[in-house]
Amino acid sequence: MAANPQPQVKKPAIKQSAWKALTTHYKSVSKLHLRQLFADDTRRGQRMAVDAVGLYLDYSKNRVTDETLKLLLQLAAESGLRARIDGMFSGEKINITEKRAVLHVALRAPKDESIFVDGKNVVPEVHAVLDRMAKFSNRLRNGEWKGHTGKRIRNVINIGIGGSDLGPVMAYEALKHYSERSMTFRFVSNVDGTDFAEAVQDLDPAETLFIVSSKTFTTLETMTNAQTARAWSLAGLGGDEKSVAKHFVAVSTNAAEVSKFGIDTANMFGFWDWVGGRYSMDSAIGLSTMIAIGPENFRAMLNGFHEMDEHFRTASFEANLPVLMGLLAVWNNDFLGADTVAVLPYEQYLKRFPAYLQQLTMESNGKHVTLDGKAVNKETGPIYWGEPGTNGQHSFYQLIHQGTRLIPCDFIGFAKTSNPLGRHHDMLLANVFAQTEALAFGKTPEQVKAEGTPDWLVPHRVFEGNRPSNTILAEQLDPETLGKLVALYEHSVFTQGVLWNIDSFDQWGVELGKVLAQRIIPELENPAEPVLNHDSSTNTLVRRYRKMKEQQ
Ligand code: F6P
Repeated sequence: MAANPQPQVKKPAIKQSAWKALTTHYKSVSKLHLRQLFADDTRRGQRMAVDAVGLYLDYSKNRVTDETLKLLLQLAAESGLRARIDGMFSGEKINITEKRAVLHVALRAPKDESIFVDGKNVVPEVHAVLDRMAKFSNRLRNGEWKGHTGKRIRNVINIGIGGSDLGPVMAYEALKHYSERSMTFRFVSNVDGTDFAEAVQDLDPAETLFIVSSKTFTTLETMTNAQTARAWSLAGLGGDEKSVAKHFVAVSTNAAEVSKFGIDTANMFGFWDWVGGRYSMDSAIGLSTMIAIGPENFRAMLNGFHEMDEHFRTASFEANLPVLMGLLAVWNNDFLGADTVAVLPYEQYLKRFPAYLQQLTMESNGKHVTLDGKAVNKETGPIYWGEPGTNGQHSFYQLIHQGTRLIPCDFIGFAKTSNPLGRHHDMLLANVFAQTEALAFGKTPEQVKAEGTPDWLVPHRVFEGNRPSNTILAEQLDPETLGKLVALYEHSVFTQGVLWNIDSFDQWGVELGKVLAQRIIPELENPAEPVLNHDSSTNTLVRRYRKMKEQQ
């Protein structure tokens, strides 16, 4: 027997009949236009929508028929989606390459629930950490926790990268309206020193607390920034090592590395290897979020996550928001050949949401082999990108409307704004509806001509239409809704991964660059000319950089 056998994941044999049927079906519907589909069914806009757990998803402006949906649902069944969902929720080690359970859903499970990993109920530990976070957050927020010189902490800087940054910064921006305005929150991620320098340039070290957030506590960028922060803090506090305990806390799964760094593990907030970095914003990685919005709002956010988890786990697939979003994403990606998805939140507070989704979606589903290690025979993970509306309309929407590529869009809007100002909000929402309408229905040459457009200009003013979009509407962007929205995308990503039969929870693709950078760092820093063994391009770039450095 092999010493380290390939782990078995409970999965049904993937039958290919639904994929095949969808391929045939695509041929018969590929020429159908949304104009026709809406004309043929005046209730399409009502029928192809789901209203659940406070989110309304209108998916009628996708290029699908009832038959398409039936076949997509068959694909979900054939892929064993139900069993895979149950596997995830019950703590099965579905991240097979890292032999880990995938239990971000346990982070938001109510106290009285039980979720077992290796025979141990993890929910009590989750709540114990949440309680410690709440105590700490309250002490900071009410000024009880003082800095080394006795001054109140007014600035909180989260140092982390990837999932240890994007979730916290996205959530802080999204929930700024609920945040403690007497405090300043900043986020340092890039190993580019400018990120740190700009974050602290107007801050007093005596009033500044750093949260060093890193699942592994070994990430080059985070550790470098944390060392720089330590030096900055110590320099501003008279060099007294004791000050570190008052100005640094850690969030990590790696207590040994945290102590090595010099942070007392009493000031560490833990989480577990069954929480993936990009699924960790509601673990202790969300400490900065909790300090900003307060423990009660943080718990409301967790409740929102949990509501969506329960919906995903229990709702029938035809009325299941994440399942439908996932199925439609696969339809657009694999059958319509759309390489990207634009995420367009019409809510200024969601300005970092597309960036957050980029890691969630692309680190999860940017995979080239199936669970069995065989090359996938389908396109996986589409490229997610986006900007808040209406800014994007005056920049890249031209390409979405009239370019040669098909770009499905997710529009996200809210009935109420946190900042009612005259007519602004109606105008904002009018733009959501107008854009989805324009994308779907376009403008025919006849319509353009009827407006008196000269013949030569007509082709330039024609909008082909037939551009698919989803519209997600919710009442208001509050902590609970943010939780629902993030969980919606998490589970949609999971659904897509199941249909492609890939491991959505590892990220081996980030390793090679890290290793090569470690090799190149000394070649840049070494005062003696190093012997270079790269390719001719990399060798020349390294030499050129060294020369440019010398000339400075
Ligand atoms: O390199 C990618 C990655 O491992 C992400 O998956 C993760 O979110 C990020 O780095 C940061 O990792 P850590 O929290 O361990 O510092």
